[in-house]
Amino acid sequence: MIIFSGSSSINLGKKVADNIKADVGDIRIEKFPDGEIYVRILSDVKGKDCVVVQSTVCNDDLVELILLLDLLRDLGASEVHAVVPYLGYARQDKRFMEGEALSAKTVLKVLWGFSDSLTTINCHLRRMGGEFIFHDVKVMNLDAFPRLAGYFRDKLGEPLVIAPDEGSLECARNAAEVIGCGFDFLEKERLSGEEVRIGVKKLNVRGRDIVILDDMISTGGTVIEAAKFLYTQGARSVNVGCVHGVFSQGVEKVRSSVDSLVCTDTIEGGVSRVSVAGLIGENLTSR
Ligand code: R5P
Repeated sequence: MIIFSGSSSINLGKKVADNIKADVGDIRIEKFPDGEIYVRILSDVKGKDCVVVQSTVCNDDLVELILLLDLLRDLGASEVHAVVPYLGYARQDKRFMEGEALSAKTVLKVLWGFSDSLTTINCHLRRMGGEFIFHDVKVMNLDAFPRLAGYFRDKLGEPLVIAPDEGSLECARNAAEVIGCGFDFLEKERLSGEEVRIGVKKLNVRGRDIVILDDMISTGGTVIEAAKFLYTQGARSVNVGCVHGVFSQGVEKVRSSVDSLVCTDTIEGGVSRVSVAGLIGENLTSR
Protein backbone atom coordinates (compact mmCIF):
# COMPACT_ATOMS: atom_id res chain seq x y z
CA MET A 1 0.00 0.00 0.00
CA ILE A 2 1.25 3.51 -0.81
CA ILE A 3 0.04 6.55 1.14
CA PHE A 4 0.00 9.91 -0.62
CA SER A 5 -0.40 13.08 1.45
CA GLY A 6 -2.20 15.99 -0.16
CA SER A 7 -0.94 19.44 0.75
CA SER A 8 -3.54 19.99 3.48
CA SER A 9 -2.61 16.75 5.27
CA ILE A 10 1.15 16.52 4.71
CA ASN A 11 2.13 15.47 8.23
CA LEU A 12 -0.94 13.37 8.88
CA GLY A 13 -0.45 11.30 5.70
CA LYS A 14 3.16 10.59 6.66
CA LYS A 15 2.11 9.61 10.19
CA VAL A 16 -0.47 7.20 8.79
CA ALA A 17 2.16 5.58 6.55
CA ASP A 18 4.52 5.34 9.49
CA ASN A 19 1.81 3.86 11.66
CA ILE A 20 1.05 0.99 9.30
CA LYS A 21 4.55 0.69 7.80
CA ALA A 22 3.29 1.61 4.33
CA ASP A 23 5.28 3.40 1.64
CA VAL A 24 5.02 7.17 1.33
CA GLY A 25 4.06 8.27 -2.16
CA ASP A 26 6.29 10.75 -3.96
CA ILE A 27 4.29 13.63 -5.35
CA ARG A 28 4.85 17.20 -6.52
CA ILE A 29 2.15 19.76 -6.03
CA GLU A 30 2.64 23.26 -7.32
CA LYS A 31 0.61 26.16 -8.60
CA PHE A 32 0.59 27.67 -12.06
CA PRO A 33 0.97 31.46 -12.13
CA ASP A 34 -2.81 31.84 -12.53
CA GLY A 35 -3.50 29.80 -9.38
CA GLU A 36 -4.42 26.52 -11.08
CA ILE A 37 -3.06 23.42 -9.38
CA TYR A 38 -0.30 21.26 -10.86
CA VAL A 39 0.02 17.67 -9.67
CA ARG A 40 2.61 15.03 -10.55
CA ILE A 41 3.10 11.54 -9.08
CA LEU A 42 6.64 10.18 -9.22
CA SER A 43 6.11 6.83 -7.46
CA ASP A 44 5.46 3.67 -9.44
CA VAL A 45 1.83 2.88 -8.58
CA LYS A 46 1.03 0.29 -11.26
CA GLY A 47 -0.97 -2.57 -9.73
CA LYS A 48 -0.69 -1.14 -6.20
CA ASP A 49 -3.27 -0.11 -3.61
CA CYS A 50 -3.03 3.64 -3.18
CA VAL A 51 -4.49 5.92 -0.53
CA VAL A 52 -4.73 9.70 -0.71
CA VAL A 53 -5.03 11.51 2.63
CA GLN A 54 -6.33 15.02 2.09
CA SER A 55 -8.69 17.18 4.13
CA THR A 56 -10.78 19.54 2.04
CA VAL A 57 -10.69 22.73 4.05
CA CYS A 58 -10.80 25.00 0.99
CA ASN A 59 -11.72 24.67 -2.67
CA ASP A 60 -8.11 24.19 -3.76
CA ASP A 61 -7.81 21.18 -1.44
CA LEU A 62 -10.82 19.64 -3.13
CA VAL A 63 -9.50 20.21 -6.65
CA GLU A 64 -6.10 18.81 -5.65
CA LEU A 65 -7.74 15.70 -4.21
CA ILE A 66 -9.78 15.09 -7.37
CA LEU A 67 -6.68 15.52 -9.56
CA LEU A 68 -4.68 13.07 -7.41
CA LEU A 69 -7.39 10.39 -7.35
CA ASP A 70 -7.93 10.54 -11.09
CA LEU A 71 -4.19 10.56 -11.78
CA LEU A 72 -3.65 7.43 -9.68
CA ARG A 73 -6.23 5.62 -11.82
CA ASP A 74 -4.58 6.90 -15.00
CA LEU A 75 -1.22 5.58 -13.77
CA GLY A 76 -2.62 2.08 -13.23
CA ALA A 77 -3.12 1.87 -9.44
CA SER A 78 -5.13 -1.26 -8.66
CA GLU A 79 -7.26 0.49 -6.02
CA VAL A 80 -7.60 4.14 -5.15
CA HIS A 81 -8.86 5.07 -1.68
CA ALA A 82 -9.79 8.57 -0.59
CA VAL A 83 -9.28 9.41 3.08
CA VAL A 84 -10.74 12.85 3.71
CA PRO A 85 -10.28 13.47 7.45
CA TYR A 86 -12.16 16.78 7.31
CA LEU A 87 -14.78 16.81 4.58
CA GLY A 88 -15.67 20.36 3.61
CA TYR A 89 -19.16 21.26 2.35
CA ALA A 90 -20.70 18.60 4.62
CA ARG A 91 -22.76 21.17 6.52
CA GLN A 92 -24.90 21.97 3.48
CA ASP A 93 -26.58 18.57 3.71
CA LYS A 94 -30.14 19.82 3.21
CA ARG A 95 -31.90 22.37 1.07
CA PHE A 96 -32.59 24.75 3.94
CA MET A 97 -34.21 27.11 1.39
CA GLU A 98 -35.73 26.33 -1.96
CA GLY A 99 -33.25 26.45 -4.85
CA GLU A 100 -30.11 25.84 -2.78
CA ALA A 101 -27.35 23.49 -3.92
CA LEU A 102 -27.14 20.27 -1.92
CA SER A 103 -23.37 20.75 -1.69
CA ALA A 104 -22.63 17.74 0.54
CA LYS A 105 -24.21 15.41 -2.01
CA THR A 106 -22.42 17.01 -4.97
CA VAL A 107 -18.99 16.83 -3.34
CA LEU A 108 -19.46 13.25 -2.18
CA LYS A 109 -20.65 12.13 -5.61
CA VAL A 110 -17.62 13.69 -7.28
CA LEU A 111 -15.18 12.03 -4.85
CA TRP A 112 -17.01 8.70 -5.10
CA GLY A 113 -16.67 8.87 -8.89
CA PHE A 114 -12.89 8.92 -8.59
CA SER A 115 -12.29 6.44 -5.76
CA ASP A 116 -12.90 2.85 -4.68
CA SER A 117 -13.65 3.86 -1.10
CA LEU A 118 -14.29 7.04 0.80
CA THR A 119 -13.38 7.50 4.47
CA THR A 120 -13.99 10.56 6.65
CA ILE A 121 -13.72 11.38 10.33
CA ASN A 122 -16.72 12.64 12.34
CA CYS A 123 -18.21 13.97 9.16
CA HIS A 124 -20.92 16.55 9.86
CA LEU A 125 -23.46 14.38 8.03
CA ARG A 126 -23.24 11.68 10.69
CA ARG A 127 -21.50 12.53 13.94
CA MET A 128 -21.22 8.97 15.20
CA GLY A 129 -18.75 6.53 13.67
CA GLY A 130 -19.68 3.75 11.24
CA GLU A 131 -20.57 3.24 7.62
CA PHE A 132 -23.44 5.20 6.08
CA ILE A 133 -24.93 5.87 2.68
CA PHE A 134 -25.73 9.42 1.63
CA HIS A 135 -27.43 9.85 -1.75
CA ASP A 136 -26.04 6.49 -2.96
CA VAL A 137 -22.49 7.26 -1.81
CA LYS A 138 -21.01 4.85 0.71
CA VAL A 139 -18.96 6.61 3.38
CA MET A 140 -16.93 5.12 6.23
CA ASN A 141 -17.08 7.63 9.08
CA LEU A 142 -14.42 7.13 11.76
CA ASP A 143 -14.97 8.42 15.30
CA ALA A 144 -12.17 10.49 16.84
CA PHE A 145 -14.14 11.46 19.96
CA PRO A 146 -12.75 8.63 22.13
CA ARG A 147 -9.18 9.72 21.28
CA LEU A 148 -10.04 13.35 21.97
CA ALA A 149 -11.61 12.37 25.29
CA GLY A 150 -8.54 10.27 26.09
CA TYR A 151 -6.45 13.45 25.93
CA PHE A 152 -8.35 14.85 28.93
CA ARG A 153 -8.29 11.64 30.99
CA ASP A 154 -6.28 12.14 34.19
CA LYS A 155 -5.64 15.82 33.37
CA LEU A 156 -8.58 17.35 35.30
CA GLY A 157 -9.54 17.13 38.96
CA GLU A 158 -13.36 17.28 38.73
CA PRO A 159 -14.19 16.57 35.08
CA LEU A 160 -17.66 16.84 33.56
CA VAL A 161 -18.32 16.48 29.82
CA ILE A 162 -20.74 18.97 28.31
CA ALA A 163 -22.12 18.67 24.77
CA PRO A 164 -22.79 22.06 23.16
CA ASP A 165 -26.17 20.84 21.87
CA GLU A 166 -28.45 17.87 22.22
CA GLY A 167 -27.32 16.48 18.85
CA SER A 168 -23.86 15.79 20.32
CA LEU A 169 -25.21 14.06 23.42
CA GLU A 170 -24.30 10.55 22.25
CA CYS A 171 -20.72 11.65 21.55
CA ALA A 172 -20.58 13.29 25.00
CA ARG A 173 -21.83 10.09 26.62
CA ASN A 174 -19.08 8.04 24.96
CA ALA A 175 -16.44 10.62 25.82
CA ALA A 176 -17.57 10.72 29.46
CA GLU A 177 -17.16 6.96 29.61
CA VAL A 178 -13.56 7.27 28.40
CA ILE A 179 -12.78 10.01 30.94
CA GLY A 180 -14.75 8.28 33.69
CA CYS A 181 -17.09 11.14 34.58
CA GLY A 182 -20.63 12.43 34.09
CA PHE A 183 -22.06 14.34 31.14
CA ASP A 184 -24.81 16.80 30.21
CA PHE A 185 -25.73 19.05 27.32
CA LEU A 186 -26.52 22.69 26.59
CA GLU A 187 -29.46 24.09 24.69
CA LYS A 188 -28.07 25.88 21.67
CA GLU A 189 -29.96 27.98 19.19
CA ARG A 190 -28.22 29.11 16.02
CA LEU A 191 -29.22 32.69 15.15
CA SER A 192 -27.02 33.05 12.04
CA GLY A 193 -23.86 31.59 10.52
CA GLU A 194 -21.82 33.47 13.12
CA GLU A 195 -24.13 33.81 16.09
CA VAL A 196 -25.49 31.29 18.57
CA ARG A 197 -27.47 31.64 21.76
CA ILE A 198 -27.02 29.26 24.67
CA GLY A 199 -30.34 28.81 26.46
CA VAL A 200 -30.44 29.23 30.22
CA LYS A 201 -30.55 25.77 31.76
CA LYS A 202 -29.98 24.52 35.28
CA LEU A 203 -26.68 22.63 35.32
CA ASN A 204 -24.65 21.45 38.24
CA VAL A 205 -21.24 22.72 37.11
CA ARG A 206 -20.07 24.65 40.18
CA GLY A 207 -16.42 23.84 40.91
CA ARG A 208 -16.23 21.40 38.01
CA ASP A 209 -13.61 21.19 35.26
CA ILE A 210 -15.77 21.21 32.16
CA VAL A 211 -14.79 19.44 28.96
CA ILE A 212 -16.78 20.76 25.98
CA LEU A 213 -16.42 18.39 23.05
CA ASP A 214 -17.65 19.33 19.58
CA ASP A 215 -17.17 17.90 16.12
CA MET A 216 -15.91 21.20 14.76
CA ILE A 217 -15.11 24.79 15.61
CA SER A 218 -15.70 27.16 12.74
CA THR A 219 -16.28 30.77 13.84
CA GLY A 220 -15.90 29.73 17.47
CA GLY A 221 -19.29 31.24 18.35
CA THR A 222 -20.62 27.98 19.82
CA VAL A 223 -17.80 27.24 22.26
CA ILE A 224 -17.27 30.88 23.23
CA GLU A 225 -20.95 31.33 24.15
CA ALA A 226 -21.01 27.94 25.87
CA ALA A 227 -17.91 28.82 27.91
CA LYS A 228 -19.38 32.19 28.95
CA PHE A 229 -22.51 30.46 30.20
CA LEU A 230 -20.58 27.76 32.05
CA TYR A 231 -18.33 30.30 33.81
CA THR A 232 -21.40 32.24 34.97
CA GLN A 233 -22.73 28.97 36.40
CA GLY A 234 -19.57 28.59 38.50
CA ALA A 235 -17.44 26.18 36.42
CA ARG A 236 -13.86 26.06 37.75
CA SER A 237 -12.35 25.63 34.29
CA VAL A 238 -13.62 25.23 30.74
CA ASN A 239 -11.57 22.98 28.49
CA VAL A 240 -12.45 22.50 24.85
CA GLY A 241 -11.72 19.60 22.52
CA CYS A 242 -12.84 19.49 18.93
CA VAL A 243 -12.18 17.11 16.08
CA HIS A 244 -11.96 19.66 13.26
CA GLY A 245 -10.37 23.01 14.09
CA VAL A 246 -11.47 25.13 11.13
CA PHE A 247 -11.06 28.44 13.02
CA SER A 248 -12.46 30.59 10.23
CA GLN A 249 -11.93 33.67 12.44
CA GLY A 250 -8.57 32.62 13.86
CA VAL A 251 -7.69 30.34 16.75
CA GLU A 252 -6.81 33.12 19.22
CA LYS A 253 -10.40 34.27 19.62
CA VAL A 254 -11.31 30.83 20.95
CA ARG A 255 -8.10 30.09 22.85
CA SER A 256 -8.37 33.31 24.86
CA SER A 257 -11.97 32.51 25.89
CA VAL A 258 -11.30 29.17 27.60
CA ASP A 259 -8.77 27.50 29.90
CA SER A 260 -7.49 25.02 27.33
CA LEU A 261 -8.12 24.16 23.71
CA VAL A 262 -7.11 21.07 21.80
CA CYS A 263 -7.99 19.68 18.35
CA THR A 264 -7.09 16.67 16.30
CA ASP A 265 -4.89 16.88 13.21
CA THR A 266 -7.70 16.36 10.69
CA ILE A 267 -6.89 20.02 10.06
CA GLU A 268 -3.25 20.60 10.93
CA GLY A 269 -2.66 23.63 13.16
CA GLY A 270 -1.05 24.93 16.33
CA VAL A 271 -3.55 23.25 18.67
CA SER A 272 -3.60 19.85 16.88
CA ARG A 273 -2.39 17.79 19.84
CA VAL A 274 -4.37 14.60 19.21
CA SER A 275 -3.47 12.63 16.12
CA VAL A 276 -5.99 10.62 14.12
CA ALA A 277 -3.18 8.77 12.30
CA GLY A 278 -3.67 5.62 14.37
CA LEU A 279 -7.42 5.69 13.79
CA ILE A 280 -6.96 5.94 10.01
CA GLY A 281 -4.18 3.33 10.06
CA GLU A 282 -6.30 0.82 11.99
CA ASN A 283 -9.13 1.27 9.52
CA LEU A 284 -6.87 0.81 6.48
CA THR A 285 -5.33 -2.37 7.82
CA SER A 286 -8.58 -3.91 9.04
CA ARG A 287 -10.18 -4.13 5.59
C1 R5P B 1 -22.92 22.28 14.92
O1 R5P B 1 -23.81 21.51 14.62
C2 R5P B 1 -21.52 21.82 15.09
O2 R5P B 1 -21.45 20.69 15.92
C3 R5P B 1 -20.62 22.90 15.64
O3 R5P B 1 -21.07 23.22 16.96
C4 R5P B 1 -20.64 24.14 14.81
O4 R5P B 1 -20.46 23.85 13.46
C5 R5P B 1 -19.58 25.11 15.28
O5 R5P B 1 -19.62 26.27 14.52
P1 R5P B 1 -19.14 27.66 15.12
O6 R5P B 1 -17.77 27.48 15.67
O7 R5P B 1 -19.18 28.61 13.95
O8 R5P B 1 -20.12 28.06 16.18
